[in-house]
Amino acid sequence: MNVLVTAGPTREPLDAVRFISNRSSGRMGYAVASAAKKAGHCVRLISGPVALPPPKGVRMIRVVTAQDMLDAVLASLAWCDVLVMAAAVADWRPKKPAARKLKKQDGPPRVEWEAAPDILQTIAPLKKPTQVFCGFAAETNDLAREAKRKLRRKNLDAIAANDVSKNNQGFDSIWNALTLYRASGEVRVVPRATKEKCARQVMQMVEEIFVEKKDKKFRKIY
Ligand code: PMT
Repeated sequence: MNVLVTAGPTREPLDAVRFISNRSSGRMGYAVASAAKKAGHCVRLISGPVALPPPKGVRMIRVVTAQDMLDAVLASLAWCDVLVMAAAVADWRPKKPAARKLKKQDGPPRVEWEAAPDILQTIAPLKKPTQVFCGFAAETNDLAREAKRKLRRKNLDAIAANDVSKNNQGFDSIWNALTLYRASGEVRVVPRATKEKCARQVMQMVEEIFVEKKDKKFRKIY
């Protein structure tokens, strides 16, 4: 399979030297990219700014903002059989970032916000019947309800939900615990484990969905 993975945070500029971002280390997405490569797939990894070495044998595409990430995803969309969106993309961004460094003596800046592009929602109408799109849901409350809502709203085949209210898993940790929701209604629990182990479970699920979709298409033809 051709597997496209996104990882890490995005940075949205506030002025010439400042930005708004989040605590994503990129570990989860990098682990998915490594697991995909180890399983024999061809992998492209779109990464926000992180401090991790690139996984071996994976094509790296480095981005900074949500708009950059959207452009990079669109550029590889026709190529991929599977997309796994593990990146923590900004939901909002400053509407008019200052071109210069804002001065401390001018006092706290008034920032006007606008929505950053929602990548999964933008590409949802472009999905081909055999493509598999898997998102992640980072939640502090109502994990199952919110994950299922995002699964439907973003027209995904599956979503990996993680509880990010605990500080020993999820964001910027080597550990995670996932609940994998499929559009078919199937639910799988991945108890707390290293992100490498979680990533293997995500890859196994998307491989299964890909085979099911291919099989369905084959049956339609013959
Ligand atoms: O990077 P780590 O430190 O290893 O941490 C891993 C992680 C916690 C970041 C990862 O496991 C995770 O949950 N990633 C998704 C984070 C997130 O943005 O979740 P969300 O529930 O806000 O978004 C739902 C889905 O929509 C995600 O697949 C996200 O990539 C996507 N999205 C979000 C915002 C946006 N503007 N465009 C999007 O496509």
